[in-house]
Amino acid sequence: MSEQQQMDSCPAARPRRFYDCTLNEKLLYTSFLLLAGLAYLMALGYLYSSFEGIDGKPGLSVDDIAENYYGNRSGTRLESALRGPMASYIDIEQRHHVVEWLKSGASESGYDSKIRPILAERCFGCHSAASGLPVPDFTSYAGIKPVANVDTGVSLHSLMKVSHIHLFGIGLVALGIGLIFRFALLPAWFQHTLTLVPFIAIFTDILAWFVTKWDPHYAYVVVIAGAFLGVAWAAQISISLYQIWFLKCRVTPGNN
Ligand code: HEC
Repeated sequence: MSEQQQMDSCPAARPRRFYDCTLNEKLLYTSFLLLAGLAYLMALGYLYSSFEGIDGKPGLSVDDIAENYYGNRSGTRLESALRGPMASYIDIEQRHHVVEWLKSGASESGYDSKIRPILAERCFGCHSAASGLPVPDFTSYAGIKPVANVDTGVSLHSLMKVSHIHLFGIGLVALGIGLIFRFALLPAWFQHTLTLVPFIAIFTDILAWFVTKWDPHYAYVVVIAGAFLGVAWAAQISISLYQIWFLKCRVTPGNN
């Protein structure tokens, strides 16, 4: 008897739901959710317009994402010359060494130790100041650099800049939406899962940016994590908005 009384008077006996909220709270939550939803749509639009066409093809694709982070490492003028007009001057094995060097970022030390000897044998006949031809001079690193400019995608520095802004910013928005969503009346497992998904998705998404810089296949993870975030937020926002305005407290006998 006394135990029962204690439980009844405990304010935490029943969690607060949307129908317990004052009108003022409901207005506040609704405004925030609508604004956050709008901001998310704007972010999608911005994402589309800044990633679309990076790979040279219209529309947004996983290749655009991959190329943004990983870069286009076969896009150098040196490699296309080696596979095209200059192909006859070099053998396959040597070309392979040069291409490897390009993909690894075309460093000066690599040029000195491995590449220069190959070029000296195959290319200096024409590609040196001595030849007098109007062609780039490959006898120095500075001379070959302009045709060996490898696109390695977004720099680590700007990745870190964007990541910390995203982690703070999206983290706070996820907290805001989650704080409101906790008033929803749902099966506990479902509510707990939906509360966690945005945070896991943000973490995975940003981790995948860095990993994609190293291996372009992880661009799929970027896309999938982004989709999880979108779906989870859409669910949290629509369930909350619905319950704020339409879910009424069911008056059970003995609870009035
Ligand atoms: C017989 C002379 C000759 C040899 C040998 C030669 N090239 Fe060339 N290369 C040229 C000429 C001429 C051009 C400019 C005309 C053209 O682009 O076809 C050129 C252009 C290039 C370009 C394009 C430069 C640019 O501004 O885009 C690259 C890259 C290049 N060569 C790389 C090489 C490499 C690497 C080798 C050695 C495997 C090599 N070439 C061997 C004559 C030569």
